[in-house]
Amino acid sequence: MEKIGILTSGGDAPGMNACIRACVRSAMHFGYQPYGVIRGYDGLIKGNFKSLNSKSVSNIIHRGGTILGSARSLEFKKKSGRKKAYNHLIKEGIDKLVVIGGDGTFTGAHIFGSEYKDLSIVGAPGTIDNDLFGTDYTIGYDTAINTAMEAIDKIKDTASSHDRLFIIEVMGRDAGYIALRTGIAVGAESVLAPEFPSDMDQIVTKIKARHENRDTSSILVIAEGDEIGGAYALADQLSKRMPSLSLRVTILGHIQRGGSPTCMERVRASRMGLACIQALIDGQRDGMIGIVNNETAFTPFEKAIGENMKIEQYFKDIVDILS
Ligand code: F6P
Repeated sequence: MEKIGILTSGGDAPGMNACIRACVRSAMHFGYQPYGVIRGYDGLIKGNFKSLNSKSVSNIIHRGGTILGSARSLEFKKKSGRKKAYNHLIKEGIDKLVVIGGDGTFTGAHIFGSEYKDLSIVGAPGTIDNDLFGTDYTIGYDTAINTAMEAIDKIKDTASSHDRLFIIEVMGRDAGYIALRTGIAVGAESVLAPEFPSDMDQIVTKIKARHENRDTSSILVIAEGDEIGGAYALADQLSKRMPSLSLRVTILGHIQRGGSPTCMERVRASRMGLACIQALIDGQRDGMIGIVNNETAFTPFEKAIGENMKIEQYFKDIVDILS
């Protein structure tokens, strides 16, 4: 029986388990033997493989995290690490691989596949950041924005009781998707994201107008990768310019990466997992399966990680107009 390897790499994301399950069950459906690679590329380098079957992935579709474990492998960045990984794959008889992860995972997969042309690697986008070209959604994003929204809703209760300004930092090293979507969903006064210049004067004017003449509360959502330098840097600047303001900071952090995936997440992850296996069987390699306009689509890794994402001015305008 031909074998297909499956691994998860980089930051984990809710829905990865649903994708693993889909890969395993569809590989078996088409007559292939699925193998899990434990802890991402580090597992490849160590030859840490585990034969999987239908039962191994039962009762995981609703669980966050990844049953295969994940890592950000430094050794895989080196040619010597990739050589070890290749040798283990060949020894095990695996020449088809599904990698579930984000831009770092796909960068590694692209280099690996360029060095060893007898390997076919296809990826499913798994990152809460939603920052890959060639897909409208990445696995984990929908759950993360819902988690962030629910957390900020709770903060709004205490913010309004104390007439406070809260600065909430959400994840997104290079991308403001989480910040913009949750900002709209919670009715934030302003959203700061890496894609847009941060206009401090405009923020100060808005907050002063809100807080000077009446008792009120405000929410500012900032992506961790914003040019200002995150929530504490923003708080510092604001409290210097408005010393009387009652201000608090909340960093949502890794809570955004955990939890049970939403219904949409499970459905998208299942579609992508199945499409990855089909793509490998059809002879595709070196690219990512995404969902574009509700259709599964194949995008070469080079494009998925290299193309500029569309800057979402429209969503920023919604925040500014509605706040
Ligand atoms: O890439 C996903 C992500 O959650 C980013 O939003 C965040 O900057 C990063 O991972 C955090 O990574 P780690 O868990 O390795 O600190």
